[in-house]
Amino acid sequence: MILVTGGTGLIGSHLLFHLLKNGNKVRSNFRTKESIDKVRKVFGYYSDNASQLIDQIDWVKGDITALGGLDALFEGVEQVYHCAALISFDPKDYKLLKQTNVQGTAHIVNLSLKYGVKKLCYVSSIAAIGPSLKQAKVTEDTEWNDANATVYGITKYDAELEVWRGSQEGLSVVIVNPGVVIGPGFWKSGSGSFFSYASKGKKYVIPGGTGFVTVNDVIKAMTRLMDSNIQTERFILVDQHMSYANLLKKIAPQLGVEPPQKVIPKFWLELFWRWDWVRSTIFGKRRRLSKAVAKGLYQKEYYSNEKIKSQLNFTFEDMDESIAFCCQMFTGNR
Ligand SMILES: NC(=O)c1ccc[n+]([C@@H]2O[C@H](COP(=O)([O-])OP(=O)(O)OC[C@H]3O[C@@H](n4cnc5c(N)ncnc54)[C@H](OP(=O)(O)O)[C@@H]3O)[C@@H](O)[C@H]2O)c1
Repeated sequence: MILVTGGTGLIGSHLLFHLLKNGNKVRSNFRTKESIDKVRKVFGYYSDNASQLIDQIDWVKGDITALGGLDALFEGVEQVYHCAALISFDPKDYKLLKQTNVQGTAHIVNLSLKYGVKKLCYVSSIAAIGPSLKQAKVTEDTEWNDANATVYGITKYDAELEVWRGSQEGLSVVIVNPGVVIGPGFWKSGSGSFFSYASKGKKYVIPGGTGFVTVNDVIKAMTRLMDSNIQTERFILVDQHMSYANLLKKIAPQLGVEPPQKVIPKFWLELFWRWDWVRSTIFGKRRRLSKAVAKGLYQKEYYSNEKIKSQLNFTFEDMDESIAFCCQMFTGNR
């Protein structure tokens, strides 16, 4: 039995589909029935019998922040893919981020040890690496510095420490650090929000860019690492570096709209994060742009993918084809 935490998210749902397709027995936690419907939608992008496949998953209700009740997830489990996490860059969510990402990961690690799990794959992030000094490429060995890190990055890094602690206590582990993951179905979060934004034909785009990877490549890397003898290693998963402007240029025409032509000037962003902070402090509103995120838009980080390529002889799929597929799913043109 293979356990996938966060099976109702972008990466988890694609991983469940891949594992089922290859004849594995799988279990996943869920928190609400609505989340399972999202998985059904994702399966429907790839298969005509989505509901049948959903029924093959052993769904167990469970919140990773609440240790009591998680035992039911681990009975008979040999491999764990830990994908569940909270993705938020709002400093107001720091406490919840710590509970979900750090404490939640500690729970998954402790239960993996208790139930004698053979191997655990933890999905971290490039947000938990670097930044690079002297404009060198970021590698898996680049030293962590949280001076300008986002609250999300800090908790993903601290979660990795829980995984390394588990490894010292005898658990076989591997960590992947994906860039922004391109994949269909979750249009309000992560890369999905770029498709939603592009579809509105907006004029402005944020500056900067980052490393991107397709969801299929993340799944391929995770499953190949789990089936290999490799352990106690982390792997950056980034295929291409792209500016947000270029990404929107690729998406917008496929959605039948013009891409944004103007990059938001730096001083607007500097004003905006300060105004956002005041608005959040006085009126208790959610932060839409934190200082760390605004500063990050001007930092150019390049991530090396040499390690995954050399250790697994890994090749990345065509990013443009994946973006085109997402556009088709977004517009419902399957
Ligand atoms: N997407 C990216 O671009 C990206 C890039 C780098 C790394 N990552 C990492 O990849 C992993 C998966 O990301 P994703 O894009 O698939 O995220 P996602 O779509 O937001 O899914 C998150 C998953 O975690 C679950 N979850 C959140 N809090 C939970 C809790 N307290 N207890 C149990 N389950 C909980 C969610 O369940 P509900 O459905 O109930 O909310 C959902 O299944 C995360 O660790 C993320 O940090 C993602």
